[in-house]
Amino acid sequence: MENVTVVDHPLVQHKLTIMRDKETSTASFRRLLREIAHLLCYEVTRDLELETVEIETPMETMQAPTLKGKKLVFASILRAGNGLLEGMLDLVPAARVAHIGLYRDHDTLQPVEYYFKAPSDVADRLVIVVDPMLATANSAIAAVDRLKRRGANNMRFLCLLSAPEGVAAFTKAHPDVPVFTAAIDQKLNEQGYIVPGLGDAGDRMYGTR
Ligand code: PRP
Ligand code: URA
Repeated sequence: MENVTVVDHPLVQHKLTIMRDKETSTASFRRLLREIAHLLCYEVTRDLELETVEIETPMETMQAPTLKGKKLVFASILRAGNGLLEGMLDLVPAARVAHIGLYRDHDTLQPVEYYFKAPSDVADRLVIVVDPMLATANSAIAAVDRLKRRGANNMRFLCLLSAPEGVAAFTKAHPDVPVFTAAIDQKLNEQGYIVPGLGDAGDRMYGTR
């Protein structure tokens, strides 16, 4: 699929399998999500531009590569996005953070916004929107719409698991936003859950129901 990258690294796939297992504890689920976030962050930032700066090593002066330009924004779709966010911040601690509070109405599957806070200069930055699950894509589409209204114009969407229906809906709504995912599962069930999936990511992360 155009504009969609499936990160099929063996370590990602191995950890994802443990996360899918319903016997995996809340503590392990959270730890694995953070670890996978490191690996996904590596892929989603692979083409960031570098510039050269002069430094002194203990041996001599050298021209060394460093990230160019303004820093990143990681935009977490609450709640479950925070699991990915933590791992991303481990790798890029200076990134700015946006929070978008959305929950899915269980009956309509439409997102309901309850919080929005983003850096004022999102227009000048690469914004990586993170949420472990892309199911119907209603939440991800709404989050990206909201960030675009705030001025963001350079975005990527990063998730752990997606449904084919969600990937199709998201890329149709936002063809300018590349998608990175660890897996595209079989389908959505009648309740809008990804199958085989891993269940409700927020509940599994925080031990709620
Ligand atoms: C989950 C998930 C996504 C959304 C995906 O959040 O983290 O945000 O559902 O579904 P969609 O693609 O059909 O919109 P949920 O609404 O359960 O909120 P939570 O993270 O607070 O549990
Ligand atoms: N949200 C989740 O957490 N899991 C799904 O399978 C679908 C939406």
